[in-house]
Order: sequence, then C-alpha cells, then structure tokens
Amino acid sequence: MMARISVNDIVVDVVDDATLLDAARLAGAEVPTLCYLKETGALTSCMICVVKDVATGKLLPSCAARVSDGIAIVTDDAEVREARRAILVMLLDEHAGDCDAPCSSTCPAGLDIPRMLRYVAAGDVDAAACIAQRDLVFPETLGRICSAPCERVCRRAQYDAPIAIRNTHAAFTNRFPQQEIPVSGKAVAVVGAGLAGLSAAYVLARLGHACRVFEKQGRACESLRALPTDTLPPEILDGEIESIRALGVAVEFDSEVTPEALLNLHDAVIVACDMAVEPNLRIVAAEEVPMYVRAVANGKRAAQHVDALLRGQPATTARPFNSKRGALASEEASRFAVERLHAAPSSEAARCLHCDCLKRVSCKLRQYATEYGLGPHVKRTMPRPALEALERFDNVVYEPGKCIKCGVCVAITCAAGVEPGMTFTGRGLDSRVRPALGATLEQGLGRVAADCVRACPTSALAFLNVEETS
Ligand code: SF4
Ligand code: SF4
Ligand code: SF4
Ligand code: FES
Repeated sequence: MMARISVNDIVVDVVDDATLLDAARLAGAEVPTLCYLKETGALTSCMICVVKDVATGKLLPSCAARVSDGIAIVTDDAEVREARRAILVMLLDEHAGDCDAPCSSTCPAGLDIPRMLRYVAAGDVDAAACIAQRDLVFPETLGRICSAPCERVCRRAQYDAPIAIRNTHAAFTNRFPQQEIPVSGKAVAVVGAGLAGLSAAYVLARLGHACRVFEKQGRACESLRALPTDTLPPEILDGEIESIRALGVAVEFDSEVTPEALLNLHDAVIVACDMAVEPNLRIVAAEEVPMYVRAVANGKRAAQHVDALLRGQPATTARPFNSKRGALASEEASRFAVERLHAAPSSEAARCLHCDCLKRVSCKLRQYATEYGLGPHVKRTMPRPALEALERFDNVVYEPGKCIKCGVCVAITCAAGVEPGMTFTGRGLDSRVRPALGATLEQGLGRVAADCVRACPTSALAFLNVEETS
C-alpha cells in the first residue's frame, strides 16, 4: 500500500510504513539526525529530527513517526528551527569538549596550532610550514614580533610550561613551496602594503584572483622597519614579502590612488590603510592595527569577503561553532595533561597535548550548531560537567564528556550480539553510556568498535591519529 504525503508542498508517494524522514528525504528535504541510523532504526533519544504536522501544528520525531495518507508536513520553518536550536543548546549544556584547541581559538589569525605541531613532531616540517603560511601569511615575521596570546592559554601551561608556539613558526625559513593556483578571471586592487594589505593580497592570489597592491611609500611594511633589526631582521620580512609576490601579486610603490578610481579597472578594492572612502559594496576595509597578528587576520577576513562577493555568494564572516571547555580546575588540568602527554617527547612540538577535537570536521553536533546559528559558541545554562577520565585501546578512544547519550553505540553492539556490549547506566542527568557490567572499552565495543566510532555523531568515540582536514 502506498501513501500520498506533502512535504513542504511537494507531493510524494511512499510505502505506507515509511517514516516521515523517509518521505522528507524522498522529497529532497534535509532533516538533521543524530541518533538515527538505518541499521539500528529509530531510537528517539535526540529529537533533533522534528518536523511539523501542518494539520495539528504538532512537532513529530520524523525518524520514528510513520506516514499516513494525506498528511502534510513542514521540515523547516521558524518554529521547527527554534525547536532544533533548543535541543542543541540542551545537548551542548551537557557537553564538555573543545572543538578547536584553546591556542587556535585565541590566535586572531586562527593558526591551526595542534596540526602544525603534529607535523613538526612527525618530522614533516614542510607540511607544518605550509599550514603556518596559509594561516599566518607571515609566520617568520610574526614569530619574532607577535605577543603570542596563544601561549598564554596553552593547556600545557597548567601542567608545567606552555608550548613554544611562536618560536616553532619563527623557524620555518624559506620552506614555502610554489603552489598550483586557479585562475578566476577577476582582478582586485589593494591599497596599502602593510601586514593587512599584503595578507589580503596573499589570500586573494591563492584563490586565483589577479591582485595588484598600491603603496604610497617606497617600501612595503614601512612601520615594521622601525623595529630593532635584531628583533626583526629586514631580510626575514623581505623574504616573506617576496614569497607573496611569487604568487603573482604585483606591488606598485610611490602610488597615490583612490579606491573609487581603481574600481574602473578592478572588480573590487580592499582598502588597508588610513583612507576615507565613500560607501560602496565593492570597496572593503581591512584595518591595519597595531597588534600585528590582528592586522593579518583583518586582511584575510577582507579577502574572504571579497572572494565571496566575486563568486556571487553571500558574504559571511560567520565562524563555525566552537564548543569550549573553558578553564580547567587544577586537578582536571593535571588529569587532562597526564592522559595526553607523550611519555618521552623528542622535541618541543611533541610536548603538545593536542587539545583540538578528533572529529572537529565530521562531528554532526558541531555541524548542526553552526547550521542552526548558535554562533561561534553558546552560553551554558548550567555549569560544565566535570572532566571524566578517557578510556582507550589500540586506536580507539572514548571521551565520556562528549557523549550525547544518543544510544547508537548501545544499539550497534546489541544488534551485533556483542557481550557485554555498551549500555546506559544511572538515571536522568547522571545517566552515562558505558561498557556494560564493568567491562573494558575493548570488551564493550567488541568486534564492532570501528562501526561504533564511525556512527558516533560526536567525537565521544573517535580514532586516534586520524587527521580530519576541511
Ligand atoms: S565532539 Fe563535536 S561539538 Fe564536541 S568538541 Fe568535538 S567537534 Fe566540538
Ligand atoms: S597543548 Fe598544544 S593544542 Fe593544547 S593549547 Fe597548548 S599548543 Fe594548543
Ligand atoms: S558514545 Fe557516541 S554513539 Fe555512543 S551514546 Fe555516546 S554519542 Fe552516542
Ligand atoms: S529522534 Fe530522530 S534522529 Fe534522534
């Protein structure tokens, strides 16, 4: 028997034991799910998949609710989105994890510090330098003049001493390989060859836009040249400027230009100097500020904004959601460090505790928090749960603080007949997902450990040593 149903005013015919989720997907509608897996069926523990029954106005869990002939549903309106947002806030209240490491979240230019350190520790300095250049544009220069706010929040500092992050990227001398660059056919002018202007030019050039920088002085980064040469040797700054020019960025010195006039020959203009401009959608400001790394960040942000403009995409500066553990109590900090530190670090980079999340790209909780506009982070409505001990075996790690109690791993181990399997313990807010009967994690997950890791919607279950890159 078939049922006819309307999904967002699109009529679809489905078998009459189909779920609303099946029907929504058939109609091409995206519905978020956290606890639903085709193999295990509906667990209805998360309720993120709610859709609205138009006739009654009721919100129904689409992964469990069956279709009925003639029903009309809406999968995405203000009420449905608000309900999903409220569910995400509730899940995140109980969630204790850092999506990005505190050091990266604090670096204004967003350097992926743990990943850079992993490459250095593994001996792949070229790969580490590529990340540093991509994120900082001037890794060697900033390695000498940045005030290193990242080191002030390094989690290792609470245990012994912070990682020498700044010195690490200061050492990437001339290691930036030539890269294949796409060609967009668009041209952008940048006014001002300071850190902000050149960083904008670097990002635009890497994205394939022809880029020309106009500087009224006779040299680039004039204000940095007043610094003592033993702090910032000029050859270091000039070497990094050359590597930006090597991407095809032209720089014209002693140029007096106006952004409005440059628009006649360019698709957009970035103003990275102290210059008043008429409001114009194609003219974007990149403020040169005294905090050097923030000037770089401003240039990158302006370039990304212009890139979106040139591609006809919405210019968004929204950052992905970033769950933050916040400050750790001293006993939590010690446990955190002891669980993660390398027994015999062979280098400074190997001292890093890798505070970033193992599933920071694939985590569905993070993806939905971003998609549902929870902002870069969300204010807790209750205190963060205390940090619980990690469990691990082979390449698998279980971080209980990140578990959203969806029950997927419990269902997978049960369906596979794993003894003793995973189970729920406790009640209400105190409930936990644990290996049953006091078993080890290895015994709890058994032969379906890899399936559980892949199906876990957060990083509560994750593979160690897997680098997720966006
Ligand atoms: S599990 Fe997801 S939400 Fe939690 S810290 Fe990791 S990426 Fe962020
Ligand atoms: S230990 Fe490593 S990942 Fe953690 S905050 Fe310090 S540098 Fe960043
Ligand atoms: S460990 Fe992962 S799959 Fe298992 S209940 Fe927790 S969040 Fe769900
Ligand atoms: S209740 Fe439907 S996906 Fe969780």
